[in-house]
Amino acid sequence: MEIKYDTEQINSLIKNRRSIYPNQFSKGKIIPDEIIWQIVENATRAPNHKQTEPWRFNVFSGEGLTYFAELQANIYKQYSGSSFNEGRYKKLLEYPLQSSHVISIGMQRNEKNILPEIEEIEAVACAVQNMFLTVTAYGLGAYWTTAGITYFKEAKPHFGLSENDKLLGFFYMGYVEKPFDGPSKRSPVETKVEWINKNSNETDPSSILFKL
Ligand SMILES: Cc1cc2nc3c(=O)[nH]c(=O)nc-3n(C[C@H](O)[C@H](O)[C@H](O)COP(=O)(O)O)c2cc1C
Repeated sequence: MEIKYDTEQINSLIKNRRSIYPNQFSKGKIIPDEIIWQIVENATRAPNHKQTEPWRFNVFSGEGLTYFAELQANIYKQYSGSSFNEGRYKKLLEYPLQSSHVISIGMQRNEKNILPEIEEIEAVACAVQNMFLTVTAYGLGAYWTTAGITYFKEAKPHFGLSENDKLLGFFYMGYVEKPFDGPSKRSPVETKVEWINKNSNETDPSSILFKL
């Protein structure tokens, strides 16, 4: 099979993708619209069962970031009840303004509920990874957060979502002022993988079924 891509580069891109936080972004440096469109276009190339395309994004930029900051801080203040935390409230106000763009990540349920909900969520998570890798390829930074108002039901309508849909968090983006100095820590892959490699002359599982 023909290898069409530079696999070394792709392996390195995946390995070096990092969560980069708004306090590491260059203040006031704005990502061009064309790149943002490419990021969301790549998001929509994610696999999705039965082609339901369950992702819904709102892109906040410019004055939209102030609107988003105040919106999420107000919703948090109004509905967090006894779990209200002043530090969290401040971050919800400040982080968007330290970013170039913020994208809300929504899962919109197919009208006919033709799939288990988890599959729609899985497809959106794949879309977010596409955004992450695109951001990394352009030398930009981003992080996905589920802190704050993500799981507040009152937040959904503000992001074009209805009751059956899910808000899955927010994707903050910017130019990187202070990069991380290497890949993020992971356990050795062997600890997460069981490799079954039976020889063809060993028992075929289907023949066991027949004997049961
Ligand atoms: C669904 C999801 C939600 C996350 N939410 C937060 C968050 O609320 N706050 C945070 O600091 N990081 C959050 N992260 C980022 C993780 O902490 C980060 O991916 C992890 O530390 C590994 O670092 P890396 O992305 O640089 O490999 C989230 C990641 C995912 C996938």
